[in-house]
Amino acid sequence: MEVKSVKETHTELMMHSVRFAKDEQGRRKGQEVLFKWRDVEKQLGEHKHIYVVDARLGSNNHTHRLWYDVIPPHTEEGQDWRTLGHRHTVEAIIYFLKGHGHSIIDGERYDWGPGDLLSVPMFSWHRHINDGDEPVLRIASTTGPLSLGLGQAVYEDERYPEFWIYAQEGEDARKTLIPGGGGQVENGKVAGNRAAEMYAEQVAFAMHEEQLRRKSKVLVKQKDLIFEPTAMGNLAYVVDPRIGFHSKALGVVMAEIPPGKRSGAHRHLYDEIDLVVGGKGKIIVEDKEYNFDTLDVLSIPVFQWHQYFNTGTEPLRILGINTRLAMDNLGLSLTHQGEHADYV
Ligand SMILES: [Fe+2]
Ligand SMILES: [Fe+2]
Repeated sequence: MEVKSVKETHTELMMHSVRFAKDEQGRRKGQEVLFKWRDVEKQLGEHKHIYVVDARLGSNNHTHRLWYDVIPPHTEEGQDWRTLGHRHTVEAIIYFLKGHGHSIIDGERYDWGPGDLLSVPMFSWHRHINDGDEPVLRIASTTGPLSLGLGQAVYEDERYPEFWIYAQEGEDARKTLIPGGGGQVENGKVAGNRAAEMYAEQVAFAMHEEQLRRKSKVLVKQKDLIFEPTAMGNLAYVVDPRIGFHSKALGVVMAEIPPGKRSGAHRHLYDEIDLVVGGKGKIIVEDKEYNFDTLDVLSIPVFQWHQYFNTGTEPLRILGINTRLAMDNLGLSLTHQGEHADYV
């Protein structure tokens, strides 16, 4: 076996950092973009939960994933949940395509139907229940890969309390959204000086976050979306902190393109996964073209130019779920606008 010198080993490690960005560009270009509904549908017959865009299946997306699932009539996601349901340290978006039901999120009930969307707050206890006679079909997207990469992926399920690491510290800790329980806002205070104030703010931070999460919006009804013209075409912001959500990682927009028209072209440093919710079209990603139909999924590689074309006779509607907010909070936001949409 070849034994490397200390110098060789550490030079190699340094070159790994230098080379990474260029290597990553290659992985982005090779990334799978189009996932056809007909392939997902076949698999959904055999199993009710099919991962579609997922790094564990070869996707180059590092920050979020998307799956399809079915909740059979008069059952619940998780089947045997009775009280708290489960919670996890990811942000989650759920978009309902078929069926009717309700969710209980931190003790509050939200009723939903086709076209409605839930933004499940970080580490809130939740359950999703199909109340109807037909299956619920939905997609969900979470920041699971991001939380795993940060070493902060916590998943607590009422059925497996032996794996809880935060919720076992009494009744208060089970109700709070803060890992380990919040304690008291006054806990970190000592007599006034600037450093003591700054430290007390740090101790109180999670309690304030929890209050903001509890006050924030959770459910979006399809009928309440407001479309307005932008350089990218007609857009409705669905989930964004600027419209009442306390989201730090996942944002959602809905784009609408009339028949025969095209969106603007842009590229950005955040991951984006699109669900085609109506109509048919074509997307150009850098130098490649893909034709898509309703219920297909598109995984847009980081920093690759992309533009959408409606090639059908119905309005084309695309739900874009992105990790722009996570990049904003890391100081890594960059969006370049190219050609503008041809209908605004
Ligand atoms: Fe969940
Ligand atoms: Fe985009």
